[in-house]
Amino acid sequence: MTVSTITIPVIAIDGPTASGKGTVAHRVAYQLGFHYLDSGALYRLTALSAQRREIDIKDEHALAKLAGALPCSFVGEDIFLAHENVSTLIRAEQIGNLASKIAALPAVRQALYGLQLNFRKTPGLVADGRDMGTVIFPHAKLKVFLTASVFARAERRYKQLIEKGFSASIEDILADLRERDARDANRVIAPLKPAEDAHILDTSNMNIEAAVEHVLRWHAETKI
Ligand code: DC
Repeated sequence: MTVSTITIPVIAIDGPTASGKGTVAHRVAYQLGFHYLDSGALYRLTALSAQRREIDIKDEHALAKLAGALPCSFVGEDIFLAHENVSTLIRAEQIGNLASKIAALPAVRQALYGLQLNFRKTPGLVADGRDMGTVIFPHAKLKVFLTASVFARAERRYKQLIEKGFSASIEDILADLRERDARDANRVIAPLKPAEDAHILDTSNMNIEAAVEHVLRWHAETKI
């Protein structure tokens, strides 16, 4: 990290799967004219690429090598792997599950570390993930831990999947969310947990607009 990079403000938004943090982070970034890092997409891209190459989940070395040389690019709302637009493909539940397993491997997390730091550009960055405030940007100007009950999240995920044309069952989603929460929260490296200095925002009974307002107000009130 260079001296000039340290002065670029970062808003870290962490939280569990389907908490709405992606949408909130995206809107906050848009309103402030900041860059946006969807760190989960990097794990999903690694998962998709590993699945296509039939790399075994136990082969940490090969997975880390793959993550370290991901030919990915983010263009507006679209995400590319080499020249292929994989924005929809990486949102499949199966890829999310594989991403969660791959994300528990220390060598993979290390391989994606530098790539994530590179997103910190002027005038600022909104970084969305699990360990943005704890590991990747520990000195972020503002840290938010965005959460919601597992039922609220299952309902949201169900709607998202149906809208994207995937088939889905609410019972399967609930079971899947519980399993993924446990894996993300209990892993040894960079587990899902709020940073000590994070603002906790429970959105179970809150719409997106209200959540965005909270984050923007905290941002306006926080000095670097
Ligand atoms: O946010 P998401 O559902 O797109 O993330 C997919 C998986 O990637 C998630 O189950 C855990 C992992 N992940 C992570 O370990 N650390 C991050 N900073 C972001 C995602």
